[in-house]
Amino acid sequence: MDNSIFQNKTIVIGITGGIACYKALDLIRELRNSGSRVYVIMTKHATHLVDIEDFEKASNNEVQTDLFHPKIDYKDYIRKNREIKHISLADTADLFLIVPATANIIGKIANGIADDLLSTSITATIAPVLICPAMNVKMWKNPIVQENVKKLKKLSYHFAEPEYGELACGYKGVGRLVNLKRIAERIGLLLMQRNDFKNKKILVTAGATVEEIDPVRIITNKSSGKMGACIAEQAFLRGADVVLLRAHSSIEPNFNVKEEKFTGVDGLFNKIKKNIKNVNIVIHSAAVSDFAVNNKKNMKIKSTKELRLELSPTTKIFEKLKKMNKKIFLVGFKAEHNVAQKELIGSAYAILKKANADLVVANDIGKKGRGFDVDTNEVFVVDKKRSVNHIRLADKRIVADKILDIIADRLIK
Ligand SMILES: Cc1cc2nc3c(=O)[nH]c(=O)nc-3n(C[C@H](O)[C@H](O)[C@H](O)COP(=O)(O)O)c2cc1C
Repeated sequence: MDNSIFQNKTIVIGITGGIACYKALDLIRELRNSGSRVYVIMTKHATHLVDIEDFEKASNNEVQTDLFHPKIDYKDYIRKNREIKHISLADTADLFLIVPATANIIGKIANGIADDLLSTSITATIAPVLICPAMNVKMWKNPIVQENVKKLKKLSYHFAEPEYGELACGYKGVGRLVNLKRIAERIGLLLMQRNDFKNKKILVTAGATVEEIDPVRIITNKSSGKMGACIAEQAFLRGADVVLLRAHSSIEPNFNVKEEKFTGVDGLFNKIKKNIKNVNIVIHSAAVSDFAVNNKKNMKIKSTKELRLELSPTTKIFEKLKKMNKKIFLVGFKAEHNVAQKELIGSAYAILKKANADLVVANDIGKKGRGFDVDTNEVFVVDKKRSVNHIRLADKRIVADKILDIIADRLIK
């Protein structure tokens, strides 16, 4: 790996009360030798296992252990708008590491507990967090610990999982802190990914449009907007300036992603028109109604007699986007229901051509665990040359990251 990726990066390392604590000293030295700045937070329990001074020497910085510093009068301090440690550490980090991570810190992060400097800083950061667990094999295999790890992975926390071997407690099994070289490699990869969309403006659309039949009834679809929200969030975490246009009913984005809400097809189109001039990338994942009601009524329609709806086709928004801004990298979505893979890819390619798009992400919403209203997806990403990238069934957040990897490959690298 190119070592320059470590240069001038700020890495905050949390040291928790595991027997492998001392191993983090070598990692810190290595990171500093590669050009990174390292700040250390030790939990109270960790300070029983290694001296604070050892970490101060290794990092060449003052080690932080307290959320509330014993010598500060916070009443006065807050009035003067002074730096608050857990927020400044959270903000300054290009990457957050926990080496070693105890079962305790994993459980706290997974449950949103912020009761000391380390857990509070992690709650406050939007930097990627790499967790390197080390513990007794029975602790590692404990179903609650495993449930917490699973939950955190789904939320995009990264893990360098422990290895099999002799454990300090005398047991043999999985639980040893993974080799430091592997940790350094993972750090390098995460740092590379961390800013790959910096200076890119991305417009993402998500969720289902709503067309009125009368003031009470609507035509809509089952899209939850989760795929789009995950793309917007992951792009934000990778440094992009993101605007998410999302349906009122769709999933709210996490973090501070800028958003505007839309209702109908026309409303969505107007918001796109307003935003598209200034963006580099458009990812159009909203499920747009193909029809609007022609004979829409302003009063609630009585239900006493038969009603025939007259529907007319709506604007094909996706086909207009490249015409509105020729410079954008355009990504669309195509949903089909229970079709052969060949047909799915064929129809994705057809809309790509029509819209002069760069990529179309196709999914079969008729198959279990894919598409609308579920947390997972399996997609085929089709490009202009009709070559296909298959992203296997995984959590939508992971699929979102892989879609962004493909975009970064084409556009940035
Ligand atoms: C000598 C000793 C070694 C320990 N090693 C580990 C360990 O390797 N992994 C672990 O998860 N917990 C270990 N523990 C238990 C943790 O220290 C304990 O769960 C503590 O609450 C962790 O707090 P912290 O996460 O705030 O540091 C150890 C405890 C002792 C006394």
